[in-house]
Amino acid sequence: MLSTPRARAAPRAARATPGAGRRGEGSRRIGRARAVSEPKPASEIDWNAIGFGLTPTSHMFVATCDLGGTWSAGEVVPFGNLSLSPAAAVLNYGQGVFEGMKAFRTKDDELLVFRPDENAARCEEGSLRMSMPPVPRDLFQQAVMKTISANADYVPPVGLGSLYLRPLLIGTGAILGLGPAPSYTFLVYCSPVASYFKGGQLTPIDLTVEETYHRAAPGGSGSTKCIGNYSPVLKVQLEAKRQGFSDVMYLDARENKYIEEVSSCNFFCVKGNTISTPALQGSILPGITRKSICEMAAARGFKVEERNVSIEEVMDADECFCTGTAVVVAPVGSITYKGKKAQFCDGKTGPVTQAMYDELTGIQQGRIPDERGWNVKVPKDFHL
Ligand SMILES: Cc1ncc(COP(=O)(O)O)c(C=O)c1O
Repeated sequence: MLSTPRARAAPRAARATPGAGRRGEGSRRIGRARAVSEPKPASEIDWNAIGFGLTPTSHMFVATCDLGGTWSAGEVVPFGNLSLSPAAAVLNYGQGVFEGMKAFRTKDDELLVFRPDENAARCEEGSLRMSMPPVPRDLFQQAVMKTISANADYVPPVGLGSLYLRPLLIGTGAILGLGPAPSYTFLVYCSPVASYFKGGQLTPIDLTVEETYHRAAPGGSGSTKCIGNYSPVLKVQLEAKRQGFSDVMYLDARENKYIEEVSSCNFFCVKGNTISTPALQGSILPGITRKSICEMAAARGFKVEERNVSIEEVMDADECFCTGTAVVVAPVGSITYKGKKAQFCDGKTGPVTQAMYDELTGIQQGRIPDERGWNVKVPKDFHL
């Protein structure tokens, strides 16, 4: 474990340097970076004003992996900046994957995390696609639980949000030629969050269909939560927001005809008793919320179809919604395609969307029985 000089050096280089954000030269030069990287005590957080921005918490988890592919046990450390070689693979070649998960406080003051085994499995698949040594699933789940436990005070009060967890696996070892990094760092940091879209949860969102740019192509990395998938959507998303839309819907790269997904969430449409969502064919993210909704909808007697869903069909749907850890279940108020605007449910939340939202959030927040065993309870002293 960490036996070669190179392997020994790399984890040290990637080590968190708590306080660097407070006192480091870089943070002194870049005032804004300094402000966002400083955690404040949970008692000073205004839970009604958190939104979906970064509110740093007191602790994060860090583990490292050497050239031989052996992962350290990892530890909980104070939240802080990382120190990286300018030649780190993640900075030069984008070798990294991440996850997004949520923990909730119940009315009995228990802490629950939703389907961490699914995130561990998706992270493993993604890391193999990106030629990185997978984080053992046990280590992944323990890391998530320890991070929640060490930041228990930052899990918002019932009904005021959740603790968003960001597991991140990056190539931190230095390398010049294109190739996998010689060493890796796995981190889990977190932030209390509330609604993703402006206006609060269940405020219908207005989507525009993108016809020029594609998010992913057959044979690409669209089904992976790799870091490089996200910057390319910003240009399109910023322009859509400038025009007053909430987000962008992408079409397939081959025919420009079938729905793929939205920038950071999956898509569903409802027609009668049928709920349809684009099939997993390698170019969309296999969302854990998507998977949960498919199971919940089928159990309620809906016909659930995972297939090619054309934009024409969607424009004629009864209702549409988006799903994701961050967005939860977001009703779609309208979709604009080729200058034509389809309005759903008079711009309000449709009954199927509402039912899916209620059931999902009810399970996640421990308000209704978790019959499928999706929640994992986090002991508050788990990190000790
Ligand atoms: C591109 C993309 N699609 C879909 C999702 C939804 O996935 P999940 O439900 O696992 O959060 C996400 C969010 O993580 C995403 O980034």
